[in-house]
Amino acid sequence: MTVPDTFPPSAAARVAMILVAAGKGLRAGGGLPKQYRKLGGATVLRRTIEAALACERVSAVLVLIGDSDDTHYADSISGLSDPRLLPPAKGGDTRQQSVLNGLRALEDFAPDIVLVHDGARPFVSQDVVNASIDAIVTGHLAAIAAVPVSDTLKRADGESGAILGTVERNGLYAAQTPQAFRYSDILAAHEAAAREGRISFTDDAAVAEWAGLQVVITPGETGNIKITTAEDLRRLDNAAREQNMEMETRVATAYDVHAFEAGSEVIIGGITIPHDRALKGHSDADVALHALTDAVLATICDGDIGHHFPPSDPQWRGAASDQFLVYAVDRLRQRGGRISHLDVTIVCERPKIGPHRETMRARIAEICGVPLHRVSVKATTSERLGFTGREEGIAALATATVRLPAADDDEALAEGARP
Ligand code: CTP
Ligand code: MG
Repeated sequence: MTVPDTFPPSAAARVAMILVAAGKGLRAGGGLPKQYRKLGGATVLRRTIEAALACERVSAVLVLIGDSDDTHYADSISGLSDPRLLPPAKGGDTRQQSVLNGLRALEDFAPDIVLVHDGARPFVSQDVVNASIDAIVTGHLAAIAAVPVSDTLKRADGESGAILGTVERNGLYAAQTPQAFRYSDILAAHEAAAREGRISFTDDAAVAEWAGLQVVITPGETGNIKITTAEDLRRLDNAAREQNMEMETRVATAYDVHAFEAGSEVIIGGITIPHDRALKGHSDADVALHALTDAVLATICDGDIGHHFPPSDPQWRGAASDQFLVYAVDRLRQRGGRISHLDVTIVCERPKIGPHRETMRARIAEICGVPLHRVSVKATTSERLGFTGREEGIAALATATVRLPAADDDEALAEGARP
């Protein structure tokens, strides 16, 4: 294919981006059109506008809005002061009509290149926008962002669901936006389509093809999704919240000791190890799990194991200590926290911990519901010194590192939590 000369001749192309946002979002349900629903605190449309403005080569952004959406639009852009954002124009009954209204509204601005983008596609990246612009600058007449289809495609009977065949997916692409054109070409194509009553094109590339413009594909991204359903909104809202949320890291340490008494096994790190003595305690005396429980509670300044499970309470007599650790981790999770790392050091001459280390790690990971690579278990003797050296008991030290939604100190003070 011969590629026409570079367009426009100078590098300083005037690029306008039209954002169509005049739809009613019926498939997403819920009353308010989807472009005005929030993803992690900002409306879908605001995020799309910000994504468009993030691209320096875009010199104007024009949003097409629904007839009764002025207030929603104003709320959506409050605080945005970029002069490249033009006053909004009104869309039409179909997407095609909305685009035509947008193209007409750009007559005064007279861009060289126009990109048409769905207002409901907020995750468009600068790479995708730049690739669209480059296609036109390097001489193509029309370009659409698209991604190769990755799922196997079946043709099926709409009523019975019976499969009629498999569609060869080689060479098939899912079309996205932006779609890019020379302004004069796409305006003429849309005007001609409107004149001839061709009003059911689903995208601008289809209008361009109909008008005889050769359309090429530029790289889209699978993340550049169009929000269509309520499920899309829910899923992406959660993802956006997590992304926005300021997290802080906290580290806490703890220490525990249990004395030996007569017996034939010890319980350490959630597993039973045969030994010529037992550990003495109110519960099962699992010194490692107790230290870990205290360390986790300490990350949220939530007291210690004795406070939550008083030794004076008979219900904890002989209790398996995994429940204490599960409880502490639950308290952390209730605060939106997540374990980054747990580390425990067991101090004893005997029993030898080495052979049981991996089993303990696996058990602790299981109790806490974290992957194995976040749990460390190690042991040391104390060179026969002190109470552990004399084998009077076993000590354990634990460190918990967690990620928590950042506390707002001013807010906490306002609520009366004086330092
Ligand atoms: N759009 C528009 N004008 C229309 C119809 C659609 O500007 N008359 C816009 C939508 O706001 C959206 C984009 O075109 O940003 C893609 O359309 P679609 O996802 O179909 O949105 P809606 O038409 O709003 O949704 P639905 O089809 O579920 O009602
Ligand atoms: Mg629609």
